[in-house]
Amino acid sequence: MTPINSFMSWIGGKKALRDIIIRMFPYDYERYIEVFGGGGWVLFRKPPGNDFEVYNDLNGLLANLFRCVRGRPEELTRALNYVLNAREDFEGIKAALARDSPSDGVTKAAMFYQLIRYSYASGLKSYACQPHDILSDFPLIEQAHRRLAKVVVENQDFEKLIRHYDRPASFFYCDPPYFETEDYYKNIGEDGFTEADHTRLRDTLLAIEGKFLLSYNDCAFVRGLYDAPGIRVRPVNRLHTLKQRYDGGSLFEELLIANYDTDERRRAGSFQMRLFGDDEGSDFFGGA
Ligand SMILES: C[S@@+](CC[C@H](N)C(=O)[O-])C[C@H]1O[C@@H](n2cnc3c(N)ncnc32)[C@H](O)[C@@H]1O
Repeated sequence: MTPINSFMSWIGGKKALRDIIIRMFPYDYERYIEVFGGGGWVLFRKPPGNDFEVYNDLNGLLANLFRCVRGRPEELTRALNYVLNAREDFEGIKAALARDSPSDGVTKAAMFYQLIRYSYASGLKSYACQPHDILSDFPLIEQAHRRLAKVVVENQDFEKLIRHYDRPASFFYCDPPYFETEDYYKNIGEDGFTEADHTRLRDTLLAIEGKFLLSYNDCAFVRGLYDAPGIRVRPVNRLHTLKQRYDGGSLFEELLIANYDTDERRRAGSFQMRLFGDDEGSDFFGGA
């Protein structure tokens, strides 16, 4: 199955950075665990291999949506078939989800999906007032359903999850709420992420047996947290999509932090290319 796009946008989604991230994956691992799953942009881009894959997010509404896309796509699209892109419906759904009123998983998933689709910048808070035909999403949901078929969906706090799945052959991709943007996630289904959580994540990751790759915003706090022996910190820049309208060329500075050599896949790839005389490809996906 070829890499696909996520069926949903999400604040902090790694659409723009996913190829760089995947090229920095370890060459070899048996378990892939996406700890802060969100819209799963990296997971959906990552070609499925023989590895055991886990998607996790603490947001229960999001984990429920992923479970329904994986296991009940027809019911989900049936529930979305006749929904209206209207402010009154948006506010009604938001209130119902805040009260936790829908009792069954599919209704909840359909409502949450509408909130994501019809909110401004997928922030779940205000109605976007943008024309969108939800039927055009159904092929994406169907593709995601097939891609998720063997993926385990979890709804845990990162620390418990990492401890549970940690083995020498485990690989954790972590994309936590960025430092000082944590409140973006303080919303329906989430309590927010604190400075103590950033430190707790560092303490958890520095104690694992497996490998981790972590994406973060580039700031002194994060650099200070991961200034530790054996940890590699690599800055990456990309165009700041939200600022492009008023500040063309503005860059978003991020860090990719790992406890292994993030060039090993590239080196193994160029070795294979030399071996097989193929000097064209930039496909370093061989290991997993
Ligand atoms: C930056 S987003 C991940 C975006 C994702 N990589 C993507 O491409 O869409 C961070 C995610 O962490 C989740 N989260 C927040 N606190 C968490 C926790 N304690 N444990 C696990 N997930 C958490 C949020 O619900 C949010 O979806």
